[in-house]
Amino acid sequence: MLEFTHTTKEHDEARQGEALLLEKEPAKSNGRKLYIESYGCQMNFSDSEIVASILLDNGFETTKNYNEADVVFINTCSIRENAEQRVRNRLKEFEFAKKNNPGMIVGVLGCMAERLKAKFLEEEKLVDVVVGPDAYRDLPNLIAQVDDGARSVNVLLSREETYADISPVRLNTNGITAFISIMRGCDNMCSFCVVPFTRGRERSRDPESIVKEAQDLFNEGYREVTLLGQNVDSYKYTAAVAEGEEPQKAVSFSDLLARVAEVNPLLRIRFSTSHPKDITDEVLYTMGKYANICKYIHLPVQSGSSRVLDLMNRTYDRDWYINRVDAINRIIPGCGISTDIITGFCTETEEEHQETLSMMDYVKYDYAFMFAYSERPGTLAAKRFEDDIPEDIKKRRLTEVVAKQRIHSLERLQNFVGKTQRILIEGFSKRSDKDYAGRNDQNAMAVFPVNAAYKVGDYVQVYIDSCTSATLIGRIVD
Ligand code: 5AD
Ligand code: SF4
Repeated sequence: MLEFTHTTKEHDEARQGEALLLEKEPAKSNGRKLYIESYGCQMNFSDSEIVASILLDNGFETTKNYNEADVVFINTCSIRENAEQRVRNRLKEFEFAKKNNPGMIVGVLGCMAERLKAKFLEEEKLVDVVVGPDAYRDLPNLIAQVDDGARSVNVLLSREETYADISPVRLNTNGITAFISIMRGCDNMCSFCVVPFTRGRERSRDPESIVKEAQDLFNEGYREVTLLGQNVDSYKYTAAVAEGEEPQKAVSFSDLLARVAEVNPLLRIRFSTSHPKDITDEVLYTMGKYANICKYIHLPVQSGSSRVLDLMNRTYDRDWYINRVDAINRIIPGCGISTDIITGFCTETEEEHQETLSMMDYVKYDYAFMFAYSERPGTLAAKRFEDDIPEDIKKRRLTEVVAKQRIHSLERLQNFVGKTQRILIEGFSKRSDKDYAGRNDQNAMAVFPVNAAYKVGDYVQVYIDSCTSATLIGRIVD
């Protein structure tokens, strides 16, 4: 999962049109403007789209300039200490804006809100509203409380909330790729991780609403959806039935993938995140069966050492992980694999760090998100183990992991050179509007000269001439 920020696009006419296509009542403007900024994982970005939808329905417009906003929301992440530090720094900048605009409401949403709860109001004087990830339906009410002169908090976690009926307003969209949240929360108790505490128990969203959202997106011109969940392989939905009726068979992740893939062969499907303990051969066969399910799996390993994996409470060991990678390569030859790695977890020895490096050599990941361990208050690891690896050693191990990954990423990209790849044109290259940019099945980014016969949203065959460490360079061939 990436940590990055983005800001919202202005809610212009075209986007109101989209909202209508999503069968939303056109909201009557209340003349107030919302600015929302997101940190952390894709799930958080997806949640911001739900928040925007809820407020739009209550008459708000969105703005990309926080200085002119009436309500400023920051959707926060707690995964590592530095993610929280960035939010604190950002709040200082909002303090400045609030001095010029004293009526401005500042709200903290997401994981950090859930972790710190009302303490946030004590620590950060400018914050008016604190709202956890399961309480967004209450936002209009919480804003009304602030209008009445109070500061408000709702950090209740829910066992049911999936926002299934809310059609997210697509923020910062290229109009081609979108995220669909399929489940919320997490029941795994990885000892390093704050997520089970900030996002609550795992629950799956009604598959009908997921398929409908995918269909609506396709009808609007979108050509790729990424199904999001903390652990998509444990997706399981059992429809409620009236008393006396036969219970229906539960829908598994593999079933769901197939149903979304059947929306249209021109709609590409991606998903994230897979858990090594739960990813089944059935899912892999479903991926193999449908050409429009992208051959790419994000499979966080965290560590290559069985002892460290045990301390992390990952519930698999090195051999199990290797078995899953072998199954992927056997059932879906050429499948892209990416991962997450933590260096310097409590008590990790040099030999165990070497096992992580050798795991990387075994899998040859296409891509990796790599982090030095950061102790999070309240987690199992914080309670049970001492954070005993000195910072400089964590960093040195991280540097080694990053250096190795760089070599592997380049090797994996070089494998595509001299081959023709099917690319979905997502837009123009950041560097030049004379080039298109888009990704292949394995999620590798390609740039290639614009060809007037094809437009954004089309699939094209691109011959790959060369690559840099991060991008394929090619040209459209017929
Ligand atoms: N310290 C460092 N990295 C962490 N991650 C989760 N918690 C921590 C932590 N306390 C990483 C894991 C996870 C990714 C989203 O963030 O690798 O898969
Ligand atoms: Fe996402 Fe985890 Fe950060 Fe919450 S703490 S925003 S779930 S990465």
